[in-house]
Amino acid sequence: MAQAFSPQADADIEAILQRYPTRLAALIPTLWVAQREFGWLAEETMELVARRLDLPPAKVISTATFYTMFHKKPVGRYHVQVCKNISCYLRGSDEVTARAAKKLGLRPGETSADGQFTLEEVECLAACGRGPVVQVNADYHEWQTAETIEALLDRLAAGDMPGGA
Ligand code: FES
Repeated sequence: MAQAFSPQADADIEAILQRYPTRLAALIPTLWVAQREFGWLAEETMELVARRLDLPPAKVISTATFYTMFHKKPVGRYHVQVCKNISCYLRGSDEVTARAAKKLGLRPGETSADGQFTLEEVECLAACGRGPVVQVNADYHEWQTAETIEALLDRLAAGDMPGGA
């Protein structure tokens, strides 16, 4: 069956279209709604967005591909993103990644077979003074070490999402 937006998502997109001067300007917030709705942006989803906004599919796909915040493949329930950029790196982000990888049995870019965790290394998360920074879904976890990431992953595995979500 072809993908379709839920009534709530459709109403959210309509509200976005009222706020933005052009359909192109509404593209990024609409992609965000689509990702919230479907979990990631399959080609079918990007085509749905293109039809909803009456934009060329190539424009939607190129925009979604440019931004790493948009997932082009399914991610786990907990999307664990470790900043690998310079400030975090100098404070030990590679140790944080290595401990997370060992704990989860995943390499960066992989998702666990049970769909619970995706581990990724990402570029600057714009909290450089508080690194190493790990973003889990929408939440930031700052000043991370090999020990704190292990404790954080334990809490997540137990179903406790520190900071909400
Ligand atoms: S370098 Fe890690 S948040 Fe900027």
